[in-house]
Amino acid sequence: MEIQLWREILNPYELAVKEVMTKFNHLIKEHRDRGLYCPIEQVDGRVKTISSILDKCQKKKIDLEDIEEKIYDLAGIRIICQFVEDIDKVVEIIRNRKDMEIKQERDYIREMKSSGYRSYHIILYYTVDTLNGPKRLQMEVQIRTMAMNFWATVEHSLQYKYKRNIPEHIKERLLSAADAIITLDNEMSTVRSEIMDAQISFRI
Ligand code: GTP
Ligand code: MG
Repeated sequence: MEIQLWREILNPYELAVKEVMTKFNHLIKEHRDRGLYCPIEQVDGRVKTISSILDKCQKKKIDLEDIEEKIYDLAGIRIICQFVEDIDKVVEIIRNRKDMEIKQERDYIREMKSSGYRSYHIILYYTVDTLNGPKRLQMEVQIRTMAMNFWATVEHSLQYKYKRNIPEHIKERLLSAADAIITLDNEMSTVRSEIMDAQISFRI
């Protein structure tokens, strides 16, 4: 496929990523301005690269003409939270928005993947206005804690280093690291709730 055609396909996805990132970043600001704690710590976003799209098409036997329908993460947003409890709050925010329509939710937190991966995934429909009029497209939103993000980032680099063939003994270590992440997230939640309790009794 010609580069010009790729650009035309991916252009609306670029706009979608920029718009949605701006909206979530603005939510952070709204919380800050009102002196409220924000369940969102950080927002990242990206459009899938052409080479990674081609890889996925090959791996999943997807025809090029079907990429917009079958590859949900052409546009990808990642929301990083401080605490596990924040994740449900972010999901609720997304469910209540008028500009985002949820197509699918996958909870890899309550049901961890066999690799040890944990995150909350939402596929949503989002409409952008382009030269050709409105375009409704799909995007993937991954919501995870900073600790989960640490694990996923390291595991992803290892996948890359070992060309998706991580040796067994390293897989085992990653699984035990995933356990440590669960413990850490729980420990942090305890610290947080103790701080909240302390704040409440202080105010009284
Ligand atoms: P792909 O995994 O993207 O081919 O799509 P899928 O249909 O299997 O969806 P899934 O929900 O499994 O994964 C979507 C995205 O989640 C991936 O593109 C990754 O960004 C992330 N992800 C899923 N599993 C893992 C994992 O084991 N490790 C890491 N680091 N990321 C993962
Ligand atoms: Mg997968």
